[in-house]
Amino acid sequence: MKKQAKKTARTGRETQPPHRVQKAPTLKTPRLLLRPLELGDAKQIQILFPHWEIVRYLANRVPWPYPPDGALQYVRDIALPAMNRGESWHWTLRLKTAPAQMIGSISLMKSEKENRGFWMGLPWQGRGLMSEACEAVTDYWFNVLKFPVLRAPKATENGASRRISERQGMRMIAVEERDYVAGRLPGGIWEITAEEWRKRRRHRGL
Ligand SMILES: CC(C)(COP(=O)(O)OP(=O)(O)OC[C@H]1O[C@@H](n2cnc3c(N)ncnc32)[C@H](O)[C@@H]1OP(=O)(O)O)[C@@H](O)C(=O)NCCC(=O)NCCS
Repeated sequence: MKKQAKKTARTGRETQPPHRVQKAPTLKTPRLLLRPLELGDAKQIQILFPHWEIVRYLANRVPWPYPPDGALQYVRDIALPAMNRGESWHWTLRLKTAPAQMIGSISLMKSEKENRGFWMGLPWQGRGLMSEACEAVTDYWFNVLKFPVLRAPKATENGASRRISERQGMRMIAVEERDYVAGRLPGGIWEITAEEWRKRRRHRGL
């Protein structure tokens, strides 16, 4: 019993974070605004998201081919209800210089092995923007929500996503195949603990 309680607290699967935060706030980075997801964002998601280069390494629960109301269904029926239940936190990404235009998305989720997910619209990739967003939400996960560990699965082929994890000081703790939109692929579970995260931030004077 004691062992189970300890395991649950470690993974964050069933426990509430010590400081329960229901509503995600707007977060800021040097170049970005991270705005909590709203129903009205579905329109821009429907344009930016359904591209093979974006979906191929995402979990195969993403419908493909993407239906014309895929974004609305996702935002209305999955993401917003999970946010309201305090089980996930979703943000849309916007450049501070053009805040009306959504450029990507980042999410945090309570789960044993899948606590963070992200995608960036094709025109904005390769500018270091997702690295910036990851810095802000990972800090939120550990320092506001107070979870003890963050884990994320990645396909081995997904070089850009793996690079972000490496640069953030994450370690691969398990090798496993998963079903992605592109099919069953080898990959791994990446992890960083709260202690490692804080040490890294201190080291960088943040
Ligand atoms: C992963 C993703 C969000 C990265 O967004 P981004 O804004 O381009 O990321 P950044 O520019 O902050 O950083 C990307 C890093 O990966 C590197 N990179 C890009 N493509 C790469 C590749 N094919 N192989 C290895 N590294 C690569 C970049 O050089 C950069 O590293 P650096 O900072 O050391 O130069 C974007 O590629 C994407 O949306 N992919 C599809 C969705 C997805 O796979 N999400 C993750 C699921 S686990």
